[in-house]
Amino acid sequence: MAFTFFFRDLPVLEYAVQEAIKLAMGRMRIKIWDAGSALGQEPYTLAILFAERLGATFNNLYLDATDYDSENNFGDIVKLATYKYDELQRIPADIFKKYFDSQGNNLYRVCDKVRSRVFFQYHDLLSLKAIGSEYALVVCKNVLLHFQYNERIEVIKMFYQALSTGGFLALENTQKMPEEISHLFEQVVPDAQLYRKL
Ligand SMILES: C[S@@+](CC[C@H](N)C(=O)[O-])C[C@H]1O[C@@H](n2cnc3c(N)ncnc32)[C@H](O)[C@@H]1O
Repeated sequence: MAFTFFFRDLPVLEYAVQEAIKLAMGRMRIKIWDAGSALGQEPYTLAILFAERLGATFNNLYLDATDYDSENNFGDIVKLATYKYDELQRIPADIFKKYFDSQGNNLYRVCDKVRSRVFFQYHDLLSLKAIGSEYALVVCKNVLLHFQYNERIEVIKMFYQALSTGGFLALENTQKMPEEISHLFEQVVPDAQLYRKL
């Protein structure tokens, strides 16, 4: 269930990050929620993309990463942010050099700067209680496919409540917006499941 990797679906994430920055420009906080973050590969990818674009205002980023897997201590693993080199080979060399610190034994840790802006907490999406509000971007990829159709609708409605007006929702590319709630969002690009809250 926790299959994931760094820089997965990069074009959509890059576009979403760019749009979220435009939306949040001038705000004190840029709030992002990565829901179903697995072992941290996706939220740290997002945080690195923000670091590349935000420069001095990177400290305004608050990236909440959530997953429900407490049995396998996902929270400890995300906070440790240490990965085997084999897992990091998709990362462009210059980015890898800039954002990962060697720990020896073929292990690398996400640098302090990036780690300091990612806040993990356990959360079950099916609780239907959002962890916060005024998010500029919610990323929930490769999670909704595990839910029943009606559960998906309720979870997406929760994301709608959690987003700021004009905020973005990124879903996996195989996930279409259910017809019943399609009036809540507009699709931003025709070939990706990236939506803007109306
Ligand atoms: C396939 S991984 C996706 C990871 C990442 N989002 C990606 O696209 O690469 C699915 C993740 O969803 C999490 N998940 C499944 N059901 C969940 C739920 N009800 N609440 C929160 N997380 C859930 C799993 O624990 C797993 O880490």
